[in-house]
Amino acid sequence: MDVHVSEAAVAIAEKDTGSFLDDVLRGLGATQKHLPCKYFYDETGSKLFEAICGLDEYYATRTETALIVEHGKEMADLIGPGVSLIEYGCGSLVKTRLLLDALDNPSVFVPIDISEEHLMDAAEALDRDYPDLEVLPVVADFTQPVSLPEAAENQDLKRVGFFPGSTIGNFNKEEASEFLGAVAETVGEGGGFLIGVDLKKDEKTLLRAYDDAEGVTARFNLNVIERINRELGGDFEAGAFRHEARYDEQEGRIEMHLVSRCEQTAQIPGHSFRFRKGESIHTENSYKYGVEEFQALAAGQGFSPVKTWVDDQGLFSIHYFSRH
Ligand code: AVI
Repeated sequence: MDVHVSEAAVAIAEKDTGSFLDDVLRGLGATQKHLPCKYFYDETGSKLFEAICGLDEYYATRTETALIVEHGKEMADLIGPGVSLIEYGCGSLVKTRLLLDALDNPSVFVPIDISEEHLMDAAEALDRDYPDLEVLPVVADFTQPVSLPEAAENQDLKRVGFFPGSTIGNFNKEEASEFLGAVAETVGEGGGFLIGVDLKKDEKTLLRAYDDAEGVTARFNLNVIERINRELGGDFEAGAFRHEARYDEQEGRIEMHLVSRCEQTAQIPGHSFRFRKGESIHTENSYKYGVEEFQALAAGQGFSPVKTWVDDQGLFSIHYFSRH
């Protein structure tokens, strides 16, 4: 099978994993306690996230998928034949398969993901089902600049980035700009970028999506505390925290917090953290964008809007940009 993992990329992933302790010490030592949202996604968290994607309240996944089903042919026509497709983060593959099926004879597929096991499973499945496609997975933290495998670098193909799921919403504005700049560099002049972006909407719909009735999002959020216990030997009591979703209209973002139910002290070996009753750990931001607002952000990094698709209810957008 044509599946390679670059050693440099594995080193990046390992270095990244090694910083969990540092991030916990830094984040829980701050005045507004916080933790990076990337720590949601261990095995348990990834399963919970998949469950979130199937919830009634979480409109994003089904709406984006439906947009690809409905407009996939038009997306493929704009992207063109024989491209090298670079996917940032490797999700359930449902959307990837829909896009690959719509595309005219794609040549190379480069999925980039921090989780080697997850990435290799996905790459093997695609390699099996798309025998004409060269699958070149890269294990890396794609929020940092990523170099493509030589086999992909050397081919003179149009490069098109693919970033579904509105994961860009989990970056702050500066990180989002930086990421767009890195993608622009990777796809190069004449390249393209297809990206799913969640739209600004009424607060009630947003709060329901991030605080579902079954409590799946609450378990997803609380899992980060369990991870501190499992991986860093912590003695946090998950039951002493509750999940809270807030919408900050000014910032245009949903925030997730873990709110301490009581005054308490929790430890990891050698360190202790005090919580006042009602004090929170800020665990995630999920920025929402207007169509023009996002186009302006992308334009700042060399991307011209080609076409944007939005569903009838105005919930979600998919943009196709070309790199000028
Ligand atoms: C992965 N990301 C786009 C999700 C979001 O909507 O921001 C993560 C998530 N957090 C709570 N529910 C889903």
